[in-house]
Amino acid sequence: MVASENTMTQRKLFVTTALPYANGKFHIGHIMEYIQADIWVRFQRMRGHMVHFVGADDAHGAPIMIAAEKAGKTPQQFVGEIAAGRQQYLDGFHVRFDNWHSTDSAENTQLAQGIYKDLKAAGLIATRTIEQFYDPVKGMFLPDRYIKGECPTCHAKDQYGDSCEVCSAVYAPTDLIEPYSTLTGAKPEIRSSEHFFFQLSNPEVVDFLKAWTQSPGRLQPEMAKKASEWFEAGMADWDISRESPYFGIEIPDAPGKYFYVWLDAPVGYLASLKNHFDKGQARDHWHPASRTAASFDEFVADPQVEQVHFIGKDIVYFHTLFWPAMLQFSGRKTPAQVNVHGFITVSGEKMSKSRGTGIDPLKYLSLGMNPEWLRYYIAAKLNGRVEDVDFNPDDFVARVNADLVGKFVNIASRAAKFIPGGQLVANNAATLQPAKLVDSVAALYEAREYGKALREIMAYADEVNLRFDGAAPWKLAKEGKALEAAAIGSECVEHFKVLAACLKPVLPALAAQAEAFLQCAPLDWASAASPLGAGHVVGSYQHLMQRVDAKLLDALFEPPAEAVPAAATPAAPEAPALPGGEAMADTITIDDFSKIDLRIAQIVACEAVEGSTKLLRLTLDVGEGRTRTVFSGIASAYQPQDLVGKLTVMVANLAPRRMKFGVSEGMVLAASHGDEKAQPGIYVLNPWPGAQPGMRVR
Ligand code: 2FM
Ligand code: ZN
Repeated sequence: MVASENTMTQRKLFVTTALPYANGKFHIGHIMEYIQADIWVRFQRMRGHMVHFVGADDAHGAPIMIAAEKAGKTPQQFVGEIAAGRQQYLDGFHVRFDNWHSTDSAENTQLAQGIYKDLKAAGLIATRTIEQFYDPVKGMFLPDRYIKGECPTCHAKDQYGDSCEVCSAVYAPTDLIEPYSTLTGAKPEIRSSEHFFFQLSNPEVVDFLKAWTQSPGRLQPEMAKKASEWFEAGMADWDISRESPYFGIEIPDAPGKYFYVWLDAPVGYLASLKNHFDKGQARDHWHPASRTAASFDEFVADPQVEQVHFIGKDIVYFHTLFWPAMLQFSGRKTPAQVNVHGFITVSGEKMSKSRGTGIDPLKYLSLGMNPEWLRYYIAAKLNGRVEDVDFNPDDFVARVNADLVGKFVNIASRAAKFIPGGQLVANNAATLQPAKLVDSVAALYEAREYGKALREIMAYADEVNLRFDGAAPWKLAKEGKALEAAAIGSECVEHFKVLAACLKPVLPALAAQAEAFLQCAPLDWASAASPLGAGHVVGSYQHLMQRVDAKLLDALFEPPAEAVPAAATPAAPEAPALPGGEAMADTITIDDFSKIDLRIAQIVACEAVEGSTKLLRLTLDVGEGRTRTVFSGIASAYQPQDLVGKLTVMVANLAPRRMKFGVSEGMVLAASHGDEKAQPGIYVLNPWPGAQPGMRVR
């Protein structure tokens, strides 16, 4: 079984995702790939394996140079600004790279130049003079995409330099009739220059690649098949140089010549890893028992290290031919696995690589949508093959609500009620064979068959819910059979723990909440199937996940509002005094309001907080049969004893927040002026007589 085999030998993994071009924001396609890789990495770490997981911006190339110029920025400024926007997406979707770097870096320059020198020493770099279009106004050689003209076949105007969109003819840019530069409109001239080629047609290189691509476990079967088709068509040498001006890395001993962006892009994987090591952070990500002082050089040369790339189906040629050949013939280690995924479509519609889809990842987050809904949904759709994944809004709502809330979370919320004091009693959890589930799910995660893994997990959850329903603990409790009710409750909590462990790679935040409820050590694979055991005490159950409201999906797909033209805005009348010292917030809908669960709370105890001049610790009764602790910044306005016994209003469904002095489980409402210094005073809300703890305020 995979499980026992892998726990015996600890793997060393170096995992990457494709490096995004630094000329645009992340779109949902990027996020899907990062989620796919992040799940795999989290799973491997739960298994006790050692992983370095890195990314970087792919900063070089003519398009970025041109975009920067248009924006009136240096390329470095331009890519720097894009890089600064990355973290919010990664944090937002719980994608935890160990390092994020750039191909426009000292490490990448050194590594790319080193690889090139070694390829040259191996006799695999040739020079050839080639003819290309040159824009005399711009003073640069033109990549094909910046040349247009009349199709030589059907005479359609304004066709691109490589193929005609009208008749589909494929041609060389020099075949175009009346060609022009799309950068300046100038008529391009043909000029010749010397280019550098990596000789992929060398028989030794071809033989290596044939064996490498067909080596079992390296590529998915459909990709290995694709590679053999490429070999049948014949391998051409690869043009790896570009003329100045170019935003890239200079070729050693070739003034004015730069590496083509795709030469230094994958080297960026190594550059980011090196940067990670050089920052001294690399060891922190290893399994604690194995923190050895490996350097970057030792690490990349270690035959045990498995280099694993996650990429999309559009860049397979680069990763299964050029990149392994570069590594092999420069005397380096080659990747162990290249895992290719399909594209993401939205309601069946293909996405544009530059414009993305209708789903804007930041809008998703700003609407307050739970990132783990998306992680779950994407995982449920992914398999180990190169298939497209479709995001369907109705399916999204149905699946997240049915599986995560209806099946998984439901188990804990129902079971907890029947376990007095949270203390588990002897039960029959072993009946469902949790170890079998855990082993099977492990094999599926390993093979990136996430959809199948989640189906098995949810089938188990179904069985658990059936057992709960069958045992009917609510009846047992009424019949005075409290111990039997506690046994089925305890059993379900044990199953909930197994399920939470299995879901943890996909849902790390939900798993953390589950761990807090279960009051157990961080869930890992070795102990996933082991019971907490009779006598273990779990915490009080807090609601773990909201259902998806279908209206959120409407909002997600709503096109952005048209900006109001400046002239249409009426001139502002004399500024009125701001009510309460601050402007009114934006209008919200009644649905927005109803998300906030306001309740009457009775202050049953209140005390000063040692070490804080601002906070009071309130113990609140909200009619739940237990009390809550809430920290409130009202110490300047109230003496603790004056508040005891009073009723107030609290936000009862605010996520618990860990503060310096403890966890705050909600928020008490109080009025104050926007400018506290100018107009001090805090006034805690107090309902009219008659209100009872637990009543909803609306
Ligand atoms: O296709 C792309 O978006 C490229 N920027 C991917 C580069 S992957 C790696 F080679 F850097
Ligand atoms: Zn044509």
